[in-house]
Amino acid sequence: MTSIQNPAGRTSLGLPDDFWLGAATAAYQIEGAATEDGRGASIWDTFSHTPGAVLGGDTGDVACDHYHRMPQDVALMKELGLDVYRFSVAWPRVQPTGSGAVEQRGLDFYSRLVDELLDAGITPWLTLYHWDLPQPLEDAGGWPERDTALRFADYARVVHDALGDRVRYWTTHNEPWVSAFLGYASGVHAPGRRDPGASLRAVRHLLVGHGLATTALREAGAESLGITVNLYAVSPASDDPADQDAARRMDGMSNRIFLEPLLLGRWPEDVLADLDAAGIGDDLRGPTPDEDVALASTPLDALGINYYSRHTVAAGGEPGAELAYPGSTDVRFVNPGYPVTDMDWPVDATGLSEVLEAVHAMSPSLPLYVTENGAAYPDDVVADGRVLDDDRTAYLDAHLRACAASIGRGVPLRGYFAWSLMDNFEWAFGYAKRFGLVHVDYDTLVRTPKRSAEWYAALTRRQ
Ligand code: FCB
Repeated sequence: MTSIQNPAGRTSLGLPDDFWLGAATAAYQIEGAATEDGRGASIWDTFSHTPGAVLGGDTGDVACDHYHRMPQDVALMKELGLDVYRFSVAWPRVQPTGSGAVEQRGLDFYSRLVDELLDAGITPWLTLYHWDLPQPLEDAGGWPERDTALRFADYARVVHDALGDRVRYWTTHNEPWVSAFLGYASGVHAPGRRDPGASLRAVRHLLVGHGLATTALREAGAESLGITVNLYAVSPASDDPADQDAARRMDGMSNRIFLEPLLLGRWPEDVLADLDAAGIGDDLRGPTPDEDVALASTPLDALGINYYSRHTVAAGGEPGAELAYPGSTDVRFVNPGYPVTDMDWPVDATGLSEVLEAVHAMSPSLPLYVTENGAAYPDDVVADGRVLDDDRTAYLDAHLRACAASIGRGVPLRGYFAWSLMDNFEWAFGYAKRFGLVHVDYDTLVRTPKRSAEWYAALTRRQ
């Protein structure tokens, strides 16, 4: 017995007929073939092979073996009726050392993927950077160094030269917040550094790299250019002014630290003031702030938003919690009663509307896409070889209805990508967390569409 009925197409959820429905993945999470065809090492290869860094000692060496099973995976996407597929290119497959020499076999893989998608009637949506920095660039200082931004723009040109004749939709970075703060401040992601100043320099250079790559691809004729940020609805735990200020700081360090430079061409003043008080404001500002925010605010054709959860925060530190939010020691996460996913993330679909409408208010004419949304659940309810993931199906249903509600209130939201097409390597959690519409058996690599996939296929169906 399932609690959610199959929808009769997207309009039955209130979505426009031309609304795009897709799914997303990322290279390191699914490809495997980590040393094949000349691929170089990325910071995630190094990190996942570092004892204690990833749960269970899991690595992306094999992952879903998508590198070898790509045609079969595209066939699955076709069965799901996807309009569009968001994937990322592994920089070290294309430039094994992060600069200079190009590995043609790496480019050929993505070229075959793009052709396979187009043959299946699925629009390819390419993300250039989903966290797999070539290790030699990290050895030279990584994102805290400005040179990495210049190398990123070169890499963007290389990928565009190979695929720009067929790929219309380009995203520079996926979730620069994660790259900067989990990579360089809390150290729970690659490269595992714990240096607040370095994480702020990384924020700046990720945005500079975005601007340089966007400018380069625009000159090369790319049609639609954007970036994807992970945004949170943020609320204070009470109307106590101290909790309200905690919410302001959390919104500042999670959302506005990227939205203001990207959309308004400035760093958020209150965030800079907090960082100055902690002695690290200049790490964000840098020596050429005007030039940098001008690059960061290079016009976009679309903004990608990844939404998973709401943060409810109160004043009062908890040991270690400040690590991912430099300068914000006095913040504590609370859950006022939302159900949680297997990641312990509170589920609140109204937060998605809130985020979409806040971004729309900042940049009224900018087309928006939800480039990731989804939920991890243990998926242990298997009957007759089926995975009856009603919890995930309900999550998707609620969040897509929130999209429809925001569109009804005038938000130019054009599409939605479920995270993820299939279960995969969930970073520091290894294979322990399952986000897929399609189940992956990690012993046999067999793919089994879950109940949520059936539901999604009914949603994508055009009458
Ligand atoms: C996002 C990432 C994606 C995946 C989901 C669960 O932060 O972009 O790769 O890990 O979370």
